[in-house]
Amino acid sequence: MTTFPLANLAEETAAALTRIGAANELADLLEAHAHVLGRRSALVALQKSLGALAPQERAGAGATLQDARRRVEEAYEARRVELEARERQRALELDRLDLGDVVVERVTWSPSVGHPSLVATTQRELEDVFVAMGFRVADGPEVESDWYNFEALNIPPAHPARGMWDTFYVELGDPETVVLRTHTSPTQIHLMEHAVATNTLPVHSVMPGRCYRRDTPDARHLAAFHQVEGLVVDRGISFADLAGVIETFTRAYFGPDIESRLRPAYFPFTEPSAEFEITCTICRGEGCRTCSHTGWIELGGCGMLDPAVLEAVHIDPDEWSGFAFGFGIDRCAQMRHQIADMRALIDNDVRFMEQFS
Ligand code: DAH
Repeated sequence: MTTFPLANLAEETAAALTRIGAANELADLLEAHAHVLGRRSALVALQKSLGALAPQERAGAGATLQDARRRVEEAYEARRVELEARERQRALELDRLDLGDVVVERVTWSPSVGHPSLVATTQRELEDVFVAMGFRVADGPEVESDWYNFEALNIPPAHPARGMWDTFYVELGDPETVVLRTHTSPTQIHLMEHAVATNTLPVHSVMPGRCYRRDTPDARHLAAFHQVEGLVVDRGISFADLAGVIETFTRAYFGPDIESRLRPAYFPFTEPSAEFEITCTICRGEGCRTCSHTGWIELGGCGMLDPAVLEAVHIDPDEWSGFAFGFGIDRCAQMRHQIADMRALIDNDVRFMEQFS
């Protein structure tokens, strides 16, 4: 009668567990499985030796052997799950890389979606500056009646000041009664009418938008251009408030080294009126061709609201006063980005436009 080699079993079991734990790939693990549990494995050999045992010893030894097999099988199973998960993860990562390549390729092939034009961006930036100062932003129509574009602004028919605006007329109604607005000032009238109708005075608003003039485009003018109008109607407003707003705006938009100045001028809708100029951004005030060697560039007009304008919209000039201003958005873009010829803004040359994406 032989005795079951228990010491052998413990040794073989430990070796089997080590081998399974050492398998780092599924293929290694399968090999390990064949080696520790296959037909020619030490455990199977031990199993075979059971038959030679005395019956009373066989039962105990069989149970011990079963237990060892079970532990090895369990270790194998656990390791298999682990390695399969690792393999899946690796495959996913490879997939993700593939996907990445596809995306990169797609970007190079798809057409570019473009970006807002320099004028649109400039308008947004100007709005931001004024909103930060407490102004609201309003919109007005581009086609106006003669009354809004001129008369309500204290420019009656045949007034010589009409010569300041070369006007496009729209063939609607009586001849020369409907116009493409020559400036954003008529939006002031809409705003004040609305404030009176809804009893919501005071008004602190800016009104950006497109305007039209029968001008031949040149380096500093376009026939379709953009302005931003400003209007304040409140109690106790003075010229100092106007000058403060202009100066604050200039420094906020153009930078602290650019100054503004007001020079007496004439506009029918304001009294007193002024032109406002800023330090030439091309030569920084030294004097150059762009600023006709003055060191200053005119940006727009401004002034205290003429009582005749307030009366046209039924606002009592004894109770309310205010100021207005209007200047070119395209001109601001030109000055800020030092664009020699304003016509570049409408040429649609991508080499120009892409600089402002
Ligand atoms: N509307 C004027 C123009 O286009 C500019 C202007 C001047 C607007 C004075 C104003 C102002 O509001 O008060 O020439």
